[in-house]
Amino acid sequence: MLKKISCKYILSILVLLGIALNTLTADAQNIRQYQLESGPNGAQLVMRNILQPEPGANEVLVQVRAVSLNRRDLAVLHRNPPNGLVPTSDGAGEVIAIGHNVTAFSVGDRVAGTFFADWPGGRRTAEALASGRGGGVDGMLSEMIVSHETGLVLIPDHLSYEEAATLPCAALTAWRALFTDGNLKSGQHVLLEGTGGVSIFGLQLAAAAGAKPIITSSSDEKLIKARALGAIGTVNYRTNTEWQKTVLELTGGAGIDHVLDVVGRETLYRAIETLAYDGHIALIGALSGRADELSLGSLPRGTSMTNIAVGSRDDFIAMNEFLTEHGLRPVIDRVFSFEEAPAAYEYMDSSAHLGKIVITL
Ligand SMILES: NC(=O)c1ccc[n+]([C@@H]2O[C@H](COP(=O)([O-])OP(=O)(O)OC[C@H]3O[C@@H](n4cnc5c(N)ncnc54)[C@H](OP(=O)(O)O)[C@@H]3O)[C@@H](O)[C@H]2O)c1
Repeated sequence: MLKKISCKYILSILVLLGIALNTLTADAQNIRQYQLESGPNGAQLVMRNILQPEPGANEVLVQVRAVSLNRRDLAVLHRNPPNGLVPTSDGAGEVIAIGHNVTAFSVGDRVAGTFFADWPGGRRTAEALASGRGGGVDGMLSEMIVSHETGLVLIPDHLSYEEAATLPCAALTAWRALFTDGNLKSGQHVLLEGTGGVSIFGLQLAAAAGAKPIITSSSDEKLIKARALGAIGTVNYRTNTEWQKTVLELTGGAGIDHVLDVVGRETLYRAIETLAYDGHIALIGALSGRADELSLGSLPRGTSMTNIAVGSRDDFIAMNEFLTEHGLRPVIDRVFSFEEAPAAYEYMDSSAHLGKIVITL
């Protein structure tokens, strides 16, 4: 009798142990990630459990700690993306495993993904431009991601994961526009349109470089905050419909040397009226549609224009050195949890933010 009971007892313990072990293995093998699924009104975010990815020989496994949103992430929803695409370009996290050929990173490193998974440096190529995370290839809204080592950079020591997650798209776009393509000099005037992600980084970078940023917004409250971040002049484009005249006055008649045009049709023609000779226009966004009726004759002598595509890994590394040297910290408007990602997208759609919106994992 006793023998029978103990046999049964041992058997039940073994079964329970088996279940527990199974659960542990299953948990260790599964991670959560958002994927896009097409619907009648564009794509929507769906949270899925997937098998934990394994790094290949030249790849790095990253535990994603934070992700940030860009206006582009909203645009991707309406572009009919392939079902299953992992959204968002921007994220930062910790290296938790590396492939056997990886030399640039070690376990424990704090890293961010580059916007283009495959643009290490040099000239833009079709392959590089097709590798935008969260658009051309899978993005960062996942508990873990695998990336080729050339698609990652070390993040500045003084930044948290939340802060570093804001850098890959908006900050790098502003950096590339002002420094790589614009050759910004101390004392020059810079025009920023609105107080979104790209413009606020443009303001901070320009101010840190000793330039004179002037910024527009639809909100006086946001303009007060922009002044605290280093704007030497502010204009409300909603209440002042001839805002370009005020901008020119704010330069003392000298004119703007660098325009970061994120709006397009509603701003570019007016921004051109503010330009100094030899000015630079960075064509970045089209929040109001593209400015297709541009008359080349309206450009002041010496104007140069660059059609911006974020930036390369080399640009990202150069920008991080500048951020470290100047102790610059990104402006985070609001942080959402991983489960609240759809609400974070809605918040971005409302345009209530100043600076960046972050999702923490
Ligand atoms: N080419 C590239 O490489 C590249 C890279 C990054 C972004 N982009 C593009 O750049 C644009 C901005 O992106 P983002 O992520 O910075 O956007 P965001 O954070 O959503 O910024 C939106 C802000 O733009 C301002 N705005 C909207 N309409 C405006 C108008 N008519 N005049 C002046 N300001 C206006 C508003 O600021 P206020 O609330 O202060 O009025 C709004 O809050 C998007 O079109 C994006 O796709 C392009």
